[in-house]
Amino acid sequence: MKLSLLVGTMTGTAQLVAQELELAWDDGELQVETLLMDKLDESVFARDGVFLVVTSTYGQGDVPDNAKAFYERLKAQRPDLSRVRYGVFGLGDRTYAETFNFGGKRFDELLAELGARRIGERVQHDASSGVLPEEMAVEWGEGWLALAREAAAAGVS
Ligand SMILES: Cc1cc2nc3c(=O)[nH]c(=O)nc-3n(C[C@H](O)[C@H](O)[C@H](O)COP(=O)(O)O)c2cc1C
Repeated sequence: MKLSLLVGTMTGTAQLVAQELELAWDDGELQVETLLMDKLDESVFARDGVFLVVTSTYGQGDVPDNAKAFYERLKAQRPDLSRVRYGVFGLGDRTYAETFNFGGKRFDELLAELGARRIGERVQHDASSGVLPEEMAVEWGEGWLALAREAAAAGVS
């Protein structure tokens, strides 16, 4: 199975999460590739396999700067993503109570609007919790990966 990690980050935390997941998961049978969102457009969804959006939140509940063009382009182009299966690992901070984890939420809502189907629940890391996001991701990821494999085996990825 192939898995593409799509990373939205401002100060590198989401990228670190993706690196840890890649280290934990990429074993030849599962091929994991990390893609920073900076230069992505809708053509990324033509890749084989499943997708995991790993993104933080900035500003007033915005996606990070490196994700903005990608997000806006998807919104404007509205590609048909009905063949896409994805998960979301969001990074945020509950101190921002009104906009907690809105980066992940925005991508989740947009991808669903475009017909993509989520695998599992959207995850929300809270930087104020003291739990390291990369540790949370690796622990959570086992269950998510099992669901992703089921989705891929069912031939819907
Ligand atoms: C200026 C600033 C604004 C932020 N705004 C939000 C926000 O609106 N909602 C939220 O949940 N987290 C917010 N955060 C927290 C970050 O999303 C969180 O610290 C995350 O782990 C950073 O990941 P990154 O290094 O990959 O960008 C903000 C952080 C900063 C520094």
